[in-house]
Amino acid sequence: MNPALDSLPARPRVFVLSGAGISAESGIPTFRGVDGLWRGHRIESVATPEAFARDPLLVWRFYSERRDGARDREPNPAHRALARLEERIGERLFLCTQNVDPLHERAGSRRVAHMHGQLFESRCSDPGCTSAPYIDEATYAHREDLPRCAACGALARPHICWFGEVPFELDAIVNALEACDVCLVVGTSGVVQPAASFASSAAAAGALTIYVGPEEPGNADVFAAIVRGPAAQALPPLLETLAER
Ligand code: OAD
Repeated sequence: MNPALDSLPARPRVFVLSGAGISAESGIPTFRGVDGLWRGHRIESVATPEAFARDPLLVWRFYSERRDGARDREPNPAHRALARLEERIGERLFLCTQNVDPLHERAGSRRVAHMHGQLFESRCSDPGCTSAPYIDEATYAHREDLPRCAACGALARPHICWFGEVPFELDAIVNALEACDVCLVVGTSGVVQPAASFASSAAAAGALTIYVGPEEPGNADVFAAIVRGPAAQALPPLLETLAER
């Protein structure tokens, strides 16, 4: 197995960050794999509060397509291996994902920090409104059908962390990074902050850092080991070794 793992203590605390690459083999395209473009728009110019204020229908069309694209997707062996790891090591695993798809939960993971939100949830777009996010699997194609907050009547928006917004669950994530013995990053290009600096934070706190994916990420230099390969093949044996320590 990976010799880097020999340096770990018994019963290590494991932090996992997953990105779009973990869902690629389930048929959900990665962001940068398609040039970061959607119908000629840069993703960064659709996934912002300003874009929603300017053209909510355009933004809802983008997320409606994401909802349709994720609706019937099945988790792959990488998602399932993470769910099994949670069953085996319980609280010693902290699973954090940049993905908004529900494939970790469909595989059986129970505790997932969705730092960029969840595709099948919506919430009020008025930051002053106290209503909670709610499950919403619908798609919206016409301005007059756009959803509205049941409490205050403002437009509802996808429950997603857009560019320029603060990711969810950051306090819990920072605590878990400081406490972990190994930080395993899977299928992310390592260019979107703050997630791109999680591995260096974990390394600064003394953790072993490992990346799993077919290509080197943008922040490759912060990893002690890089396991090259698609997540569905490369991740399960690595997690099996971790569970046995
Ligand atoms: P990217 O699309 O930037 O990167 C996907 C990564 O997955 C690439 O590094 C690929 O090499 C890798 N990959 C491809 N196939 C894989 C496989 N079978 N197994 C493992 N890895 C594979 O996606 P992210 O880094 O997740 O933010 O993107 C980060 C954020 O940027 C997203 O969460 C999203 C986006 O804008 C928001 O929507 C807020």
